[in-house]
Amino acid sequence: MLQGKTIVLGVCGGIAAYKAATLTSKLTQAGATVRVIMTESAVQFVAPLTFQTLSRHHVFVDTFDEKDASVVSHINLADSADLMLIAPATANIIGKLALGLGDDMLSTTLLAATAPIWVAPAMNVHMYANPAVMHNMQTLLNRGVRFIEPGEGQLACGYVGKGRLAEPEEIVAAIVRHFTAEVPRLEGRRVLVTAGGTVERIDPVRYITNDSSGKMGYAIAAEAVRMGAKVTLVSGPTALSAPEGVELIPVQSALDMREAVLSRLDTHDLIIKAAAVADYRPASIAKQKIKKKSDAMTLELVKNPDILQEIGTLKTHQFVIGFAAETERLDEHAMDKLKRKNCDFVVGNDVSQAGAGFSGDTNVVRIYDSNGLVEALPIQSKNDVARRLLELAADRLHPDEGES
Ligand code: CTP
Repeated sequence: MLQGKTIVLGVCGGIAAYKAATLTSKLTQAGATVRVIMTESAVQFVAPLTFQTLSRHHVFVDTFDEKDASVVSHINLADSADLMLIAPATANIIGKLALGLGDDMLSTTLLAATAPIWVAPAMNVHMYANPAVMHNMQTLLNRGVRFIEPGEGQLACGYVGKGRLAEPEEIVAAIVRHFTAEVPRLEGRRVLVTAGGTVERIDPVRYITNDSSGKMGYAIAAEAVRMGAKVTLVSGPTALSAPEGVELIPVQSALDMREAVLSRLDTHDLIIKAAAVADYRPASIAKQKIKKKSDAMTLELVKNPDILQEIGTLKTHQFVIGFAAETERLDEHAMDKLKRKNCDFVVGNDVSQAGAGFSGDTNVVRIYDSNGLVEALPIQSKNDVARRLLELAADRLHPDEGES
C-alpha cells in the first residue's frame, strides 16, 4: 500500500520513542522506505541500531556526520521524502518547527522539506496543555502541518490524561489513507455544496447575516474537485474566491439559496449543506432606507424555509450531509438534526471549543450517521476535515449511480 513512498521519520526524546520502532516496522511492512532521523535525546531512550535494523537504512543523528560525500544529508533526506513524520514529537521539536529553528539534524531537515509534515505529539498532560505549546501547534496547523492527536490514558510520568502517542497502527492507517486518497474517488459524481452565511435584507443598505466565513464549504468544494467530482458551489457572500474547477452560484438570501439548491437537486448525487442559513428574515424589505424615528424599533421576522429539511423529504438517490453548529450537548443535538432532517451524515461541531467554528482555518468535528457517531476528528485544517468527510461519504455512495 505504501510501495514507492519514502517516509522520513523523526524520532524525538521521549519514552514513546520505543513505539517508533513498531511504527518503523509497520511502515516498512506496508511497503514504504523509511529513513529515520533521531534527536540526541531520542538516542537516550532507544539505540539507533534498532531503527537501522528495522528500516534497513543508516540512521541519522548528527548533522555533521556525513556518511556519503556525494550528498548533503539533510537536503538529500528532505528531497527524498513523500512525507515527513515526527513521532513521537516533543514540545521542543514542535516549538522549533513553529519558530523555524534548525539546530540539529531533524530540525534542519524539516526546514528543508517541501513534503507534507505530520506531527504525532507525545508528552505529559500539562506540557500538552501548556499555552505556549498550544500556540505553537496552532501556528503549525495554520501553516498546513497535520497533527495526529495523542490519546488519553495512563502516561509514563504517572499522570492520567491526554499525551500518549497515537498507536502505531492508527498512524500507519492515516498515512495509507493519505496516499490512497490521492486516487480520485468521486470520479463521475456530481457534488453540490452550500457555503457561507445568507444575507437577509432589511432595506437597501441594511441586512441581517451571521459570522460564517464560508471556509469549510469552500474547502469541501475544492477537495471534491481534487477527488474527481463535478462540483456546484452555492454560496452566500464571502471574502473567498471560488476554488478552481468549481461552478459557483452566488446567492444572497435563504430564499435564493433554496431556489438554487432545489432546482439542481435531481442532477446531483451528493449534497453537502455547510451553509449557515438564517433561520428568520425580515417580514418585508423596505424599498427605501428606513429613517430613524422613535427611541425603540421592532423588526418583524418570519421563519425561513429549512432547505436541508426539504432536501431530506425530496431526496431520491442523493446522499445528504448536514451540519450542526452547537454550543452544548453536541451528540444529542446533532443526532436530533440528522433524524429530523433525514440526513445521511451530520457533521457536528461545538463552536465554543478552541480551534472549531466559523472564521478559523481549523475545525474539530464529529461525524454521525443514523446509528450514531461514525468518526470524531481531532483538531485539523478545514481541508483535512473536508478530505476525510468526502472519503467517508464516497464509501457510502451507491457504486452504480455515478455518471459513466
Ligand atoms: N439549514 C438549512 N436551512 C435553514 C436552516 C438550516 O438548510 N433554514 C441547514 C444548514 O445548512 C445546516 C443544518 O441545516 O446544514 C443545520 O443548521 P442549524 O441552523 O444548526 O439547524 P436548525 O435546525 O436551525 O437548528 P436549531 O434548532 O439549533 O436552530
